[in-house]
Amino acid sequence: MKAAFIEKTGEPQVIQYADRPDPEPGPTEVLVEVGAVAVNPIDTYIRSGAVKLPIEFPYIIGCDLAGTVASCGSDVTRFKAGDRVWGSNQGLFGRNGSFAELAAVDQDWLYPSPEGMSDTEAAAGALVGITAHLGLNLHGGLQEGETVFVNGGTGGVGGSVVQMAKAAGATVIATVGSDEKKQLCESWGADLVLDYHASDLDEQISQFAEQQGGINIWFETQREPTFDRTVPLMAQRGRIILMAGRDARPEFPVGPFYVNDLRMLGFAMFNASPAEQRECGKAISALYSQGAWHPQIGKLLSLSEAAEAHALQEENTIGRAGTLSGKIVLQP
Ligand SMILES: NC(=O)c1ccc[n+]([C@@H]2O[C@H](COP(=O)([O-])OP(=O)(O)OC[C@H]3O[C@@H](n4cnc5c(N)ncnc54)[C@H](OP(=O)(O)O)[C@@H]3O)[C@@H](O)[C@H]2O)c1
Repeated sequence: MKAAFIEKTGEPQVIQYADRPDPEPGPTEVLVEVGAVAVNPIDTYIRSGAVKLPIEFPYIIGCDLAGTVASCGSDVTRFKAGDRVWGSNQGLFGRNGSFAELAAVDQDWLYPSPEGMSDTEAAAGALVGITAHLGLNLHGGLQEGETVFVNGGTGGVGGSVVQMAKAAGATVIATVGSDEKKQLCESWGADLVLDYHASDLDEQISQFAEQQGGINIWFETQREPTFDRTVPLMAQRGRIILMAGRDARPEFPVGPFYVNDLRMLGFAMFNASPAEQRECGKAISALYSQGAWHPQIGKLLSLSEAAEAHALQEENTIGRAGTLSGKIVLQP
């Protein structure tokens, strides 16, 4: 099979696209004929060596995938050949990466694709959808009628948070970097969408948040959270969700945090158990069937262009180029 893999960490150009042996599914594994994969920032951190996870070279890159079951190991009970599936969390902790024509994936990490959902859509919504769902629900305890603020409301995770929070009956405030992204975010029902370049940004958030009785969940997708700004905008018992910024060391206003009974929750999606992630997978597929989940594809490339895809992801997540609106999806 053809696959995108690395033999050492480094710049995007270390990614090779060449033949690798077809994987043999183990007893609980499903062999997936991959229809589409998507790039996530974590893929670029692993490839560059910035995040040191135990990997063996040659290492097939990538977490997300969607495709069709080609065959199943002897103990697989959830799937059969011909089923359409999607999943994430591959290429981590010794699991095979997804950027290949074929991937052997434990049945625990796969979910049935809902009717009508293409492989490109399913791959685009995989890791980011699960992350948003975990953050809002398992960690954030979102309740209907609460107010959610999303910094970066059309980013991979942010766009998913906006859609899921709206589907759960929340009022949503989001920030974006352009008029086009404002329109996209509004099309998902976000109640207040603000340009993060605006000089009166915090006043506008504050005015709206006050009318709502404060922000119940602040979903921070940025790598440098600004707590002096966030904490005063929170409702009593509000939850601040942190999921990015490994090296960030922001200042923190302790007084207004504790006297308002605030909580701060950090999480990494890859720590969630297969059962927890399967709950998210089921909920995400159901949202798609209800028309409440629209995974965004910002750029469609061929799997052979994996190095370009990584460079583009880095330009946006780290370089903040703002040239992407949706996920980078690749097809074998
Ligand atoms: N903990 C976890 O489990 C987990 C899971 C997934 C991702 N992550 C991390 O979460 C972060 C976001 O991931 P992602 O996939 O959503 O990245 P992404 O798709 O690159 O999104 C980045 C977002 O940041 C926005 N942004 C840029 N500058 C901004 C500013 N000054 N103020 C507000 N928003 C700004 C962008 O908005 P515009 O496009 O409008 O400019 C875009 O919406 C990454 O650091 C990633 O590593 C963590």
